[in-house]
Amino acid sequence: MSHPLLDLNNLLRPAVGEYGLDPDDLAPGGRLHQRFAEAFGAVEARRAAGDLGFLELPHSRETSRVVAELAESFGQWFSDVIVLGIGGSGLGAIALREALLPAGWNELGDEERSYYPRLHVLDNPDPRTVDALLDRLDLRKALFVVVSKSGSTAETMAQYLVARERVARVVDDDKLRGHFLFITDPEKGALRALAETEEIPTLAVPPNVGGRFSILSPVGLFPAAICGIDIEALLDGAAAMEAACRDGDLTTNAAGALATALHAADTEGGKSIHVLMAYADRLRAFTLWFQQLWAESLGKVKGDTHVGPTPLPAVGATDQHAQVQLFMEGPRDKVVVFLAVDPPDDDVVIPDVHPDVDALSYLAGHALGELLDAERRATTEALRRGGRPSATIEVGAADAHTLGGLVMLFELATVYAGALYGVDSLDQPGVELGKRLTYGLMGRSGYEATAFPEPDERWRF
Ligand code: PA5
Repeated sequence: MSHPLLDLNNLLRPAVGEYGLDPDDLAPGGRLHQRFAEAFGAVEARRAAGDLGFLELPHSRETSRVVAELAESFGQWFSDVIVLGIGGSGLGAIALREALLPAGWNELGDEERSYYPRLHVLDNPDPRTVDALLDRLDLRKALFVVVSKSGSTAETMAQYLVARERVARVVDDDKLRGHFLFITDPEKGALRALAETEEIPTLAVPPNVGGRFSILSPVGLFPAAICGIDIEALLDGAAAMEAACRDGDLTTNAAGALATALHAADTEGGKSIHVLMAYADRLRAFTLWFQQLWAESLGKVKGDTHVGPTPLPAVGATDQHAQVQLFMEGPRDKVVVFLAVDPPDDDVVIPDVHPDVDALSYLAGHALGELLDAERRATTEALRRGGRPSATIEVGAADAHTLGGLVMLFELATVYAGALYGVDSLDQPGVELGKRLTYGLMGRSGYEATAFPEPDERWRF
């Protein structure tokens, strides 16, 4: 089974000169090696305290068995599955769908999907999107998977209420509850209470697994399994990566090496923008999943200061024509992590249509995936020559196994980076005020309708 491989060479001084890290600092006895050993100790202490439930998920095969059984029984009845969830409760399902299902899954016919359902994820209560989808689908054949760890997130609850009323228009009362599955905390929250009152089926998010670390819990596994994704392979890949990252030596712990290098690039090299650039459309959504993981986990108040890198998703080759100019010649405040993916076995060969046109004929006989990979290698080398550091993760085939490994690599790197920055990577206090103000505006009891400042009309044009 393949395993994602991390190559840090282009982050180091031999490759990028003064803009790189000193390899001696990363080697055993070096100061970054020592720094990681301490961060590793802090993370292990949290693991021992039971805070890092996401590390247990790949090993918890009882959950995946229950998920698979439920997915199989639901899957027979529904042609469309709609996940309602936001942030960590929606991004994982989108990332898995895009990476592991055939391209354009929802546009394929039933037979091409082997009769697995289409998978939609509503992760924003934008009326235009929500209304269009609910109008278009045959709701008699639709399953709504309502995902909320807290069981109270306004965006998700509002979507649930809308969906529920729409389904009630077309199915009998006694059938209504059969169109919903709740994925939420095992004990707490409005969704859990509702499930119990109305006997709506549920799957649990373990209490010690936070939203953005929940992709390998039922939150990501159920939508994946109901569409036929091999969730055991996904968990195997994650388990293998987790097992490979169990020591404090960053010459063997890939997640530790990634976190240490990115943290040092930010705090010592002024490279506070961490670009994740995937050379595959199928990993575009994965870069968005990473963006949320890195941003919400690491952007924190630390004493009197504010810390945290800014994650920036990118896709090659598309962003070579949008962002790479900035990466090459703009401020030296970025480090790029490339995701390299093997071309598919059925790569598309470029035909020799215009043998007399030099500007086109050199492409003939090559393949599109080969071109994409050449673009990645060329961009990496161009950045290197410009003294612009990068790292590359060779993902291999981007199948369920390697994707599981990639998920675990970034989740672990995130908690290591949290320890290196000296912040709690598991909380998100900065989003609370906005939530409370929203509740106030929407009239939720117990939340004041706060007065917002009046705008100065001179500055409204
Ligand atoms: O990562 C997180 O914890 C958040 O992004 C949550 O996933 C998001 O706020 C949704 O929360 P909930 O699952 O409680 O609805």
